[in-house]
Amino acid sequence: MPFIEHVSDSDLERLALERVVPALLAHGFYYVDGLLGELVGDVVLEQVKEMHRSGALQDGRLAGSVPGVHRRSIRGDKIAWVSGSERGCESISFLLNLIDKLVSLCASRLGNKLIRERSKAMVACYPGNGAGYVKHVDNPNSDGRCITCIYYLNKNWNAKEHGGVLRIFPEGKSYVADIKPLFDRLLFFWSDRRNPHEVQPSYATRYAITVWYFDSEERAEAKRRFKDQTESSQQQQGSSSS
Ligand code: OGA
Ligand code: OGA
Ligand code: MN
Repeated sequence: MPFIEHVSDSDLERLALERVVPALLAHGFYYVDGLLGELVGDVVLEQVKEMHRSGALQDGRLAGSVPGVHRRSIRGDKIAWVSGSERGCESISFLLNLIDKLVSLCASRLGNKLIRERSKAMVACYPGNGAGYVKHVDNPNSDGRCITCIYYLNKNWNAKEHGGVLRIFPEGKSYVADIKPLFDRLLFFWSDRRNPHEVQPSYATRYAITVWYFDSEERAEAKRRFKDQTESSQQQQGSSSS
């Protein structure tokens, strides 16, 4: 039965406490299938397709540029950042609310983290030209991101034919986890060095929506650091130009 049609606060709480929290603590990642159900999932998919058709998705950015290396050989997705309040994003907003609710139920049980805010949502499309995203860590240097949540939107995905598998290489483990980007699947994993991961080359259009939840303390510290760096580089520029 589609999850959303019988979703009550107590169902959501059970999902959070009995499945998501224990799996995150034990393995560092977890996914839930059939989050919204076919009907609601379809509406989200249509909104994302419409964003793609209308040209709202732009080349994904790299944190730093490497001379002589083509961006697309590292990261080949097209993205847009949305808050959910944009016109035409109502179903994405609905999805984000549900994920927020789920994560807030988990938040106080995930150790000494203070999870109260998140990023905007990143709507991403790998266009199916064989591009993927090379092995990386989302938050290698304590920028505040704590949990990565990815909602996949791909019907009839055949990984043998279409590729596009998310492979997680859990730190210190001898196994990898291969996660297919299947329609209506919500994946959680720790954003830090515990979970290096890659998106394998994708040979069909592959849609996903990602949000990152912040640890408030780490985030505040990262903002302070960033502010200090900006100020000191402004001072340096000021002194060298004067
Ligand atoms: C990312 C990423 C994974 C995926 O955008 O950082 O790793 O499965 N995406 O889309
Ligand atoms: C996975 C998986 C089951 C399926 O994505 O990791 O096992 O039916 N999916 O594809
Ligand atoms: Mn990533």
